[in-house]
Order: sequence, then structure tokens, then C-alpha cells
Amino acid sequence: MVESVLIKNVEIVSEKGVLTGDVFFENNIITDIAPSISKHAELEINDSGLTLLPGVIDTHVHFREPGSEHKETLYTGSKAAASGGVTTFFDMPNTSPATVTLKALEAKKMLAAQTSLINYNFFVGATTDNLDVLKQVENIPGIKIYVGSSTGTLLVDQDEPLEAIFRDTKHIIAVHSEDEKMIQEKQLEYAGSSNVLDHEKIRSAEGALKCTQRLIALAKKYQHRLHICHLTTKQEVALLRNLSSKGLITSEVTPQHMFTYAPDIYEKWGTKAQINPPIRHRDHQEALFKGLQEGVIDCMASDHAPHLEEEKNQPFPHAPSGMPGVETSLPLMLDAVHNGHFSIEQLVNVMSKTPASIYTIQKRGALTVGHYADAVLVDRHGTHTITKDNVYTKSGWSIFEGQFLKGKVVATFVNGSPVFREGDFFEDKKGMEVAF
Ligand code: DOR
Ligand code: ZN
Ligand code: ZN
Repeated sequence: MVESVLIKNVEIVSEKGVLTGDVFFENNIITDIAPSISKHAELEINDSGLTLLPGVIDTHVHFREPGSEHKETLYTGSKAAASGGVTTFFDMPNTSPATVTLKALEAKKMLAAQTSLINYNFFVGATTDNLDVLKQVENIPGIKIYVGSSTGTLLVDQDEPLEAIFRDTKHIIAVHSEDEKMIQEKQLEYAGSSNVLDHEKIRSAEGALKCTQRLIALAKKYQHRLHICHLTTKQEVALLRNLSSKGLITSEVTPQHMFTYAPDIYEKWGTKAQINPPIRHRDHQEALFKGLQEGVIDCMASDHAPHLEEEKNQPFPHAPSGMPGVETSLPLMLDAVHNGHFSIEQLVNVMSKTPASIYTIQKRGALTVGHYADAVLVDRHGTHTITKDNVYTKSGWSIFEGQFLKGKVVATFVNGSPVFREGDFFEDKKGMEVAF
């Protein structure tokens, strides 16, 4: 176990701006950031070509444990995450059993304490009859509501239980926002279709917008913090752009919705590109991209939702929705920085700093003295091609396979210890439960 680390002569994207200098980690914590540090450390890295960023905080993953360990586990998911510079994850409740009781939550936290290589916490899912749990539960990122159904059985779409959750609970509410009635109507209309391009028609832009309008009204009525997961439409971006209650309502976008579009992505990948809410046409993708650039959308999350290739290779509509992505978000964003679409500070804002502030995470999300030493060392000039052979997710594939990217993860530090370095993993120290 490494107790002290000195990283010398690197570009540091710190809370105080972009600096060149040294950083010292000791006993979990960043203890010094300065132009030059002369103390000795157990591990010293000196490489003027590299850049140190705060570790990525991915607030939306599905690590499948318990219930679907053949797709991913907390261990394999955390390992994939570490290889992609992610130092904290929040896992979604649609496991089997679903995380809708205190017991199921405790079981996940215990397992993560034993097996996760990075920091963790878990959303609790809302059902129509677990309001007591949602009121009592402590130290979670938030309550997840599937207002439209997706993978798993979680769904709360009726007014009465929805109003009760907004009225009677205190945690931030994160939503999968698609109108369930509209999905069901369209499913009947397109029954018998085996064309994956119909996925986007069944789960329409109108359905996403309608549900998001409904949820924003509830958040305003009860003055309850609302986070809209994985935005997919230009109409929702326009709605958020004109919202007066910024701060009460936040939102996220995924790399797959921001970097890819229909019909091309479905023509290339078929049902592997099928996710909920769907990847839509280019006008939506462009609005999402601009929305993140301009700060209308607050942050990025991967919605890492692994399924095996053989499951995904079933024809539409039998293939499950979802795709892996926890380890490819940062490389894709480094490439977008290289291409001039975002500044390196913007990358840090949308991947680390803002996720920490949205969920009020204590002492993480920025490189600053006193914070936990969660950091990722990257080579902004290095190159990385995503292939089946270099992804670590147990599902073993990515729709970004074949993409040649400028920017490469070199090492990932979690609570001051290296967990990943140039293809090697260090597994003796486990991650911590994130506190709020
Ligand atoms: O495409 C999706 N897959 N959307 C979700 O909301 C759930 C996820 C999964 O768990 O597979
Ligand atoms: Zn979702
Ligand atoms: Zn999800």
C-alpha cells in the first residue's frame, strides 16, 4: 500500500486554475500543491509531458451486482472505471433485487467496501410503496425514479406517489424521464417491427419532453432538487436554457448521446446502439453538444449499462437496452478538448467539479489541499484507440471501438494510492463510501 506520492513537473488543473508544478499526496489526502516540492515520497513520478486532473466522478452507472454478475460486478465495473480515470461511481438501483430497501442498500455498500477499487455510493430506487425507506435512508447520493420504464421493473409514473416523493423526502431526486403512457401507445403502434430505427419513434422526443415538463413542475411546486439524467432532446435543452430556477434543476448528458447520432450509429451497430432514452438524430445531438459547451447541461455521466454481446445481438425489440461506457468517457472528452470543443477546465467542471457540487459530495471533485487525493494523470498528446482488447468492462465491447483518440489515461489515484498505472492494477486498497 502506497502512503505517500509526489508527482513532479506536471500541468495541474487545480481549483486555483491551470498551474505547472508538483503535488503531494499523504494518507488519502492532497497535502501540498506548489511550483516545487522537495519532500520525499514512497512513489515519485516526474514527467513534464503529463497533466493531472481531479478523478472523474461518474454519477450514473449500472454495475449489475447483485443479480446480473455475468454482465458486470462491483469489482469488474470499478476496475474498468479506474482504467478510464474514474475515481468515484454512483450505481443505479435497477439490480436484482432492486435497491429499494435499507437491507438491499446495506448489502451493496458492504460488497463495495470489500471489492470496489474506487469510491462508491448507491442510489435508492423509488417504488409506489417504499416512501418510508426514502424518508429514512441516509448517506446516499439521491433517490432514483424511473418515471418511464426501462431495464428492470422499477416504475413510478402515477401522480399520487410521485407527488408524495417530491413532497415528503429530502434527498435529491434523479429521474429517468420518459412518458410511460406514450411509450406504451407507440409500442402498440410499432408492434411487430424488427427495425431498430423504430426504437427512437417508440421512445419519442415528445415523450421525453412531456415527462421532463411534468417533473420540472413538480420540482418547482415542492421546491425539491431535481436532477434529470441522460438528456436526449433539443426541446429539453431549450426548456432548460430558459429555466428561471437554475440550481433547483440540474441535468446530465452521456457521451453516446453527445457524440453519436441516428441513423448512422444504428446502421453501424444495430441493436448495440439501442439505449433508453434513445440516441436521436443529428439536430438533437448538436443541441446536446452545444448545451454542454454552454453550461445549459451541467455535467456528463456515462450511464454505463453493460449487457453481453450475445444479449445485444438479438434482433429488435428483443435485445436489452443499454451499453457500456464508464471507461471511455474521459478518453472521448480528452479528444474533444484536443479538437478545441472544450477547454481542459470545462472538462474538469463537467466530469468532476459539478458532479461533486450537484450531489454535495464532501472533499472530492477538485485538486485542492485538504481534499481526498482522487486524481488522474493523463497524457494529452498520447494516443489511444478503443478496441475490444483494451476495454476492461466484463461485457467486453464498446460502440466506440475503432475510434482513434488524442489523449490517454496514464495513472489513476484513489484516496492517494495508485489503482491503475499504464495497464497495471493495484488492488490491495479498496475505495471508500462517499459522504455528503
Ligand atoms: O438503456 C438503458 N439501460 N436505460 C436505462 O434506463 C437502464 C439501462 C440498463 O440498466 O440496462
Ligand atoms: Zn435511465
Ligand atoms: Zn441508467
